[in-house]
Amino acid sequence: MKVWDFPTRLYHWLQAGLFVGLAASGFRGEGPHMYLGLGLFTLILWRIVWGFVGSETSRFKQFLRSPKGVLRYLLGRLPVTPGHNPAGGWMVVVMISLLLLQCLSGIVVAGLADNLPLAELWLTDAVFDISVMVHGICARLLPAVVGIHLFAILVYKLRSKPLVWAMVVGVQKKLSVSTGDVAIASNTRALLVLVVAGLVTMAIVALSLM
Ligand code: HEM
Repeated sequence: MKVWDFPTRLYHWLQAGLFVGLAASGFRGEGPHMYLGLGLFTLILWRIVWGFVGSETSRFKQFLRSPKGVLRYLLGRLPVTPGHNPAGGWMVVVMISLLLLQCLSGIVVAGLADNLPLAELWLTDAVFDISVMVHGICARLLPAVVGIHLFAILVYKLRSKPLVWAMVVGVQKKLSVSTGDVAIASNTRALLVLVVAGLVTMAIVALSLM
């Protein structure tokens, strides 16, 4: 059955590509780091909004469960349903939050926030210093978290639950309960959200040039 919409799959693989480019250019201290970061920032903004208005399996409320729900899943007491499992759902939130934090701190460190509204009030030396620190910490934390993400996917593969192909073609098999079709949001809606996210990024860049 269809579980992942095309925009979510495209977002995921673009994000993975940008992440590799950002890590490579960031640790080498050269290359198109800032431009790749602005691209990732746009994608992350898109994904956060899509978590509220997107397809059923992309919505946060669909895959975020209580700690009790996660425990029941880990003990094998919950059936496999379409989309992220309860443990994976929290991992998704951790990854998206860290990526957002990395992008926001990068925007401050790059000086792109200097002309944002009320910057003279909130963009103090302390905020700048904290942003530099956060950017450095997340740069080291993110590869570890992505490593856990890939390890979990490998474990599922070894347990005969191939997730990668589903993230490529959007279709998932082997559900332990029969569920109705997943509600898939339109590509036009995804494009509209992307335009809004792109405008936010462009506004930040435009203000920084003033
Ligand atoms: C070759 C490398 C990668 C592979 C094979 C891979 C594979 C996958 C798969 C199979 C899923 C769906 C998991 C599920 O069914 O619940 C997923 C989701 C996700 N992955 Fe990856 N991933 C890779 C790299 C990355 C990287 C580098 C990042 C972050 C920098 C990342 C972040 C995410 C996020 C945030 C989701 C949730 C997608 C959503 O709901 O929008 N992945 N990944």
